[in-house]
Amino acid sequence: ENINQFQMNLLAWYDFNKKPLPWRKTKDPYRIWISEIMSQQTQVETVIPYYERFMRKFPTIQTLAQAEDAVVLKAWEGLGYYSRARHLKIAAQQVMTDFGGAFPETLTDIRSLKGIGPYTAAAIGSISFDLPEPAIDGNLMRVTSRLFELDTDISKSNARKSFDEVLRPLVSTDRPGDFNQALMDIGSTVCTPKVVHCEQCPLSECCDSYKHHTALNFPIKTKK
Ligand code: ADE
Repeated sequence: ENINQFQMNLLAWYDFNKKPLPWRKTKDPYRIWISEIMSQQTQVETVIPYYERFMRKFPTIQTLAQAEDAVVLKAWEGLGYYSRARHLKIAAQQVMTDFGGAFPETLTDIRSLKGIGPYTAAAIGSISFDLPEPAIDGNLMRVTSRLFELDTDISKSNARKSFDEVLRPLVSTDRPGDFNQALMDIGSTVCTPKVVHCEQCPLSECCDSYKHHTALNFPIKTKK
């Protein structure tokens, strides 16, 4: 059926074309968490050396929970948005006190950690624990709005909910983390905000805006 074809095309593309990111060699939720927080306002290629250095300095949740604030902030230098680093340490302490040092495995528990919102929880849950959750960020909204020519206004607060409804049935239950990361790579390489490379896209045969040459009309965004 259609959903199956979509998943097969996407995952086969990913297997050959995925970005070689260091955190793609592990499912360790601690490492995935750090990579996702660092990637929030920074391109993944830029994140790599910061991620490697951070992991050498704080190899476990416990080392992060016990670190001095100043040391954590120092390790964050260059990434900006320092509240993210402060939240990381608080969340590491939460993992120690609330979950006995083991990173929580359900969406609700993951969401209870400081600094982890719906996107990050879904990313960690799908990549580390195979939870079939769509990890919806701006890139996934752009790709999805083009695939289905969705008129959902991404600047509205209810946008996430409508993208969730569209994407949730499509998520691969076998490889949910790869499913999400494949869409992230497509969003950052072939289906970018101002340029599309549909000839390289594994989803073009399923894509409404490819069919109608309307990709650059999406996503709909009223406020700027
Ligand atoms: N952007 C944020 N997280 C990512 C990931 N895991 N892979 C690719 N791009 C990302």
